[in-house]
Amino acid sequence: MQKPRIITGFSRMAPEEKLRQVTSRFKDPAAALKTITSFLHPDQSIQKILSEFSENTLTNFAMPYGMAPNFLINGEVFMVPMVIEESSVVAAASAAARFWADRGGFSARVRGKEKNGQLHFRFTGDAGRLEKAMPAVEAYLREKTLPMAANMARRGGGITSMMLKNRPEIEPNYFQLFVNFETADAMGANFVNSVLEEFGVGLKDFFYETPGFAPSEYEPLMAILSNHTPGCLVEVSVECPVGELGLVGGLEPEEFVRRFELAVRVAQGDVHRATTHNKGIMNGVDAVVLATGNDFRAIEAGAHAYAAQDGQYRSLSHSSSENGIFRFWLEMPMSLGTTGGLTKLHPLAALSLELLGHPGAERLMMIAGSAGLANNFAALRSLVTTGIQAGHMRMHLPNVLMQLNASDEEMKMAGAYFADKKPSHQAVAGFLKKIRDGS
Ligand code: MEV
Repeated sequence: MQKPRIITGFSRMAPEEKLRQVTSRFKDPAAALKTITSFLHPDQSIQKILSEFSENTLTNFAMPYGMAPNFLINGEVFMVPMVIEESSVVAAASAAARFWADRGGFSARVRGKEKNGQLHFRFTGDAGRLEKAMPAVEAYLREKTLPMAANMARRGGGITSMMLKNRPEIEPNYFQLFVNFETADAMGANFVNSVLEEFGVGLKDFFYETPGFAPSEYEPLMAILSNHTPGCLVEVSVECPVGELGLVGGLEPEEFVRRFELAVRVAQGDVHRATTHNKGIMNGVDAVVLATGNDFRAIEAGAHAYAAQDGQYRSLSHSSSENGIFRFWLEMPMSLGTTGGLTKLHPLAALSLELLGHPGAERLMMIAGSAGLANNFAALRSLVTTGIQAGHMRMHLPNVLMQLNASDEEMKMAGAYFADKKPSHQAVAGFLKKIRDGS
């Protein structure tokens, strides 16, 4: 067997050596080097900021940064920045935003901003005694973390509550100190994790200092925030009289609503459809989350945990049509920040936040939620009327043409030819072949 090619000390190598190590793995190292370095930022001070976000940065991975205009949210119009590679997402968000801007726009509200985290530990002493000591434990731990929490307290955040959870079904003697937090306009991961780690040490001190407890009965396991944040929720909705929907994709409004509602019910009850349905929501949400320098993995993880909280994975959005009013709404957790993290450091994230009027966390939750609902509406509208592929492939046409090395002239001709046809890869290749053969 060939010996695995393990590298030692890669992170300590000079950038040139890292590049050499990487490019030597390509068939054409010089071409790989040229591609990699071509994406470095020409302004060295900006490149330095980007490089320092992560270890072993060689270059930047470019993604489209686009805008979806005309988002009317709670009576205010936003131009929403979106970072996404999928060709139809910004177009779909823009079209849905425009559609709803003419029908009253999005209504959004934040139903809580509470974050949580846990100190996981084993305790082999008397569980009842520990439960009784909780008020004293809480006072002790709060006191210990006062200096650490002072800054957050000035911004209106801090520890809101804590409780002991005995979870013997996971393992005998396993406990959690379950702590809730407010983190103002920060996502708050660093604050939450720092406080929880301090609690881990503090609890040992408490056992040491308090008669009836022994530090040897305590084994801290881990201290970490949870990305399941059902207390940090945003709700976004659109609504209008059914008749005001007009003809949708060739369907009368009543027929459109009937099919639309059935599609939402399918996503409520069927996990395969629910996953794709929610993916369509995350298309819009993630694009805004990325454009504003937030952690999209946290939002994804939280959204899917919330979607499955009753034991079955379900749609995050809902629809109804009572008394002739069509209503479509989304409820999902959204743990976002507008200070800290990359939000100010990444030049484009900072610009996105400026464009959105320097929102606090709550406003950003409502904007990202609206983008999610817009994309969900656009996807369902296509799915239950024309089908998704026509629009999707039309948006994807330039990618297919680029893959097939089409010239500008060929792109124009293909654009005109496929305006009313499905541009599958095969159809586009056939079309190009025809015009290249002169037929
Ligand atoms: C594609 O990125 C998203 C959709 O599949 C969402 C959906 O099916 O609802 C179109």
